[in-house]
Amino acid sequence: TPLEQTYLVNSGTEAIEGALKLARRVTRRSQIIAMKNAYHGNTMGSLSLMDYEERKAPFRPLIPDIHHINFNSETDLDFITNKTAAVIAETIQGGAGFIEPTNNYLTKLKAKCESVGALLILDEIQPGIGRTGKLFGFKNYNVIPDIVVTGKGLGGGLPIGAFTASKAHMSLLQDNPKMGHITTFGGNPLIAASALATLKEVVNSNLMQEALEKEKLVKDLLLQHPLIKEVRGRGLMLAAITESADVTNHVVLEAQKRGLILFWLLFEPKAIRITPPLTISKAELKKGCGIIIDILNTLL
Ligand SMILES: Cc1ncc(COP(=O)(O)O)c(C=O)c1O
Repeated sequence: TPLEQTYLVNSGTEAIEGALKLARRVTRRSQIIAMKNAYHGNTMGSLSLMDYEERKAPFRPLIPDIHHINFNSETDLDFITNKTAAVIAETIQGGAGFIEPTNNYLTKLKAKCESVGALLILDEIQPGIGRTGKLFGFKNYNVIPDIVVTGKGLGGGLPIGAFTASKAHMSLLQDNPKMGHITTFGGNPLIAASALATLKEVVNSNLMQEALEKEKLVKDLLLQHPLIKEVRGRGLMLAAITESADVTNHVVLEAQKRGLILFWLLFEPKAIRITPPLTISKAELKKGCGIIIDILNTLL
């Protein structure tokens, strides 16, 4: 099914809700299969997709009929059946530690979904809009989802979320009930203009190509350091993995004092998250990596 029509909302998580509702309308099934260690946002539906009990328990009961499988596990594809409305995955798992699909996993996942009449929803809220060197992360992996969810960078700094599907599928949201995912500010002209301008800039500039050059720069600089075990991810969605959560915590907190914003990842305590704006210059990236290396050197 082609990706033809986009529905604009105000945040990523609200777009995830729309995608879930659309999958139910299209398939008339309720079961959703989500990935372990996934993050899709914090509204009730998105939270229900997460398998992190500590974060869910205070808000139960959440939405029912959600099951979790392991990302990149081919044997787990057997859990997808003709009861499944949709499978949802981040194209590159974010909170899990910037885990890329391996072994054509997403192609196999899509084929499995098709064989049982389930929809594939890819959450591109973090990898999408040029961050991995392509407009959508899934363009790196030879797959096209039935529903793609975007947000974050799409707004060029303004609040937005969006989900895109075929016209035939999207038209099901028009009736029964009418305006079943309406929200006051969704698709307002300011946000729509901002997203359009951002898309034009990302598509027509060198930002996507440069994201890959910047990836190489960061990997070359950081991998020289003995306390960096690995740099995962693609483009400007990078996670430097240290040997321990303590080292990572120290780097993230100390970097902040030195004017460099890094962050953690939800399920991978050894990861230093490096996700700068696509417009960061190579000089700024070198400076930032220099700060990380200086901090790491104090630990040697
Ligand atoms: C993969 C992914 N999905 C969903 C979301 C939720 O988006 P928002 O924070 O706009 O609700 C995020 C935000 O961090 C995300 O990274």
